[in-house]
Amino acid sequence: MSRVEKQVQQYMKVLEPEFLENLRWLHQHPEISFEEYETTAFIKEKLTSWGIEVQDCDTKTGVVALLQGTCEGPCIALRADIDALPVMEESTCPYPSLKEGMMHACGHDTHTASLLGAAHILASMREEIRGSVKFLFQPAEEINKGAKKLISLHCLENPKVDAIFGLHNSPEIPLGTVAVKNGPLMASVDRIEFTIQGKGGHGGIPQRNVDPIVAAASVILAAQSIVSRNVSPIDSAVVSICNVKAGEGTTNNVTPHEVQMYGTVRAYTEETRILLEKRLREITESVSTAYGCQGTLRYLRELGVTRNDPSLYDIAHEAVKAVGAEPVDPVPSTGGEDFSDYLEQGVPGFFYWLGTRNEEKDCVYSWHSPHFRADENCIAIGAGTYAMSVFQAIEALK
Ligand code: NI
Repeated sequence: MSRVEKQVQQYMKVLEPEFLENLRWLHQHPEISFEEYETTAFIKEKLTSWGIEVQDCDTKTGVVALLQGTCEGPCIALRADIDALPVMEESTCPYPSLKEGMMHACGHDTHTASLLGAAHILASMREEIRGSVKFLFQPAEEINKGAKKLISLHCLENPKVDAIFGLHNSPEIPLGTVAVKNGPLMASVDRIEFTIQGKGGHGGIPQRNVDPIVAAASVILAAQSIVSRNVSPIDSAVVSICNVKAGEGTTNNVTPHEVQMYGTVRAYTEETRILLEKRLREITESVSTAYGCQGTLRYLRELGVTRNDPSLYDIAHEAVKAVGAEPVDPVPSTGGEDFSDYLEQGVPGFFYWLGTRNEEKDCVYSWHSPHFRADENCIAIGAGTYAMSVFQAIEALK
């Protein structure tokens, strides 16, 4: 074991009571996207007390901070999201939310506490850092806007970030494990909006109308053939139409003029994403035309693929082993992450899943459930993994 590894492991142990104190405060004070004021003040106070420079970047919530090492070298960014959800907590956590109707139901408190832990470890080991560390405490991940906000405020510059690491807790894998995936970990997320126009009229005299509902039903069914018939069986994709609107109230005898539908599309490669958009557009337009209607599709790209950079895989794998956790190879998720926004800026990045599952403590429920609970013993591992990623990456990139 190297000297640095030994030191990181020692700090993980010595500082753990503080990590847990921070986590408990954060868990009890959840704040929703772009309203993370108390959380922001809490983070700033902690960072400042450890001598880390909070960068003034004109954001009301969220914090960008910089820790300079002892010499010039690569700048490694560590990112944690800090926002909570409008969910009423019903978990068995012994320190539940003090704010009615708000809860860290996605466990972003574990990310914030882990990154604070890493900040304290790294500030204590400043002498060993041959470069610099940028801390990104990002607001508003839940609404896919926080990363874009920090990027627009030049968080990846001054100094320029050479690599970025992030993590999300996972109730799917046991405490003590960390998922380390080479390549795509989470999918791209696109929004689809359909408008199908016909000619409304009396539902009892259909021959006088052009029924957009029948056309919409055919579009919905035909869209299901894209994943089964156009996407390679070796690849993965999702097309879900989740919201269909037509007609007024409970009216049963009026054919409406128009149907509107909304859905979501997921993929793991740019090629598949382009294919999905092309086929959805063709189906919407030509199926609608076949029924005498006019169909249009709006295809809105919301998030890119969270693709772990192969050049950082060994670094990430070593970092996890160095803190005494077990690296595991996960099945990718069709969920999305706005961590992908940083990657789309051309910064190589790596995203971990931090194991938090523990049946004995009821830490089994999925993200966004009111029963969600993460095993708090994940914080030392999260903090250590962030910190070791910095040392491993600086060593490899310098
Ligand atoms: Ni989340």
